[in-house]
Amino acid sequence: MGTTNKNLVRFLLAVQAAAVMAGLGASALSMDYYGMSCPYTEWIVRGVVSEALRKDPTLAAGLLRLHFHDCFVQGCDASVLIDSTDGNTAEKDAPANKSLRGYEVIDRIKEILESQCPGIVSCADILALAARDAVFMAGGPYYRVPSGRRDGTRSNAADTVALPAPVLNASTLIQLFGSHGFTTQDMVALSGGHTLGVAHCAAFKNRLQSETATLDASLAAKLGSTCGGDSSSATAPFDRTSTAFDGVYFKELQERRGLLSSDQTLFESPETKGIVNSFAANPGYFFWAFQQGMLKMGQLDLKEGDKGEVRKKCSVVNPPPTW
Ligand code: HEM
Repeated sequence: MGTTNKNLVRFLLAVQAAAVMAGLGASALSMDYYGMSCPYTEWIVRGVVSEALRKDPTLAAGLLRLHFHDCFVQGCDASVLIDSTDGNTAEKDAPANKSLRGYEVIDRIKEILESQCPGIVSCADILALAARDAVFMAGGPYYRVPSGRRDGTRSNAADTVALPAPVLNASTLIQLFGSHGFTTQDMVALSGGHTLGVAHCAAFKNRLQSETATLDASLAAKLGSTCGGDSSSATAPFDRTSTAFDGVYFKELQERRGLLSSDQTLFESPETKGIVNSFAANPGYFFWAFQQGMLKMGQLDLKEGDKGEVRKKCSVVNPPPTW
């Protein structure tokens, strides 16, 4: 695609994003939320993300997943960033979150923002903006992200049961995402987040044993050798372009090269197969649906007013006021 066409597509995507925002009705968030209080917020986030991805392009995946795991557990309130304490095992130490990465990028952004405008920009907004920038810098769609999220004060490992397991089938995924207000198309598009990144053997080993009918033989052989022996830290990419945000993930589902059961089921189930085929045939359509899904995801269960705060340090809840 030429640069002019690309720019046109991006412009149209931004217009679509505005339409989605309007369709969402009343929201506690707004565009340009920090326009007066911390005007360089988005610029600072972009700069740090850009520098981090220049050094390690695989971090785009980490930043996108951090935002997803934040929003699906207790809403988008940066609860995923809080450290465990003596009396509390936090979300980040739950098994489902052990392989999350990119925390240091968020901490760096927060550090700069605190030096520029202390106590203003929430960690939850930083996660949403960093995920957006990571997707865009990896070649995905650009969409405007409304801000004004507040940080939560609770983070409990047990709450991560809300996260989808890699063995779920399409019907269960439709139900789970539907319970948060997502359509089936939103769910399939958001699963397309797996156009970036890798998974550890434990997450997909079951496919090698019990799903050979829906697993391409050459991929099965490759994964078998990756995961043989002591493979607890071995990983495989979700698709063959795992640092590029593109439509290849959906093409690979058609080729039975989905990595997780929850990926391949989207092609195997009649409820979602048509959507996979449309996204594979038209990545622009996937981009459009993905950004709609992300805008919805970024507004899950927001903490209003005194139910939230702006954390000074993303990994620690603010101390109670001393007065
Ligand atoms: C549909 C249900 C989903 C399931 C069952 C699922 C499950 C998983 C699992 C098991 C991993 C690999 C973890 C590991 O082994 O280290 C993973 C990685 C990842 N997930 Fe998902 N996920 C889902 C949806 C999403 C969504 C909605 C997004 C974002 C929009 C997302 C973004 C990612 C990314 C980017 C990675 C790669 C992370 C990295 O390379 O560090 N996932 N997911």
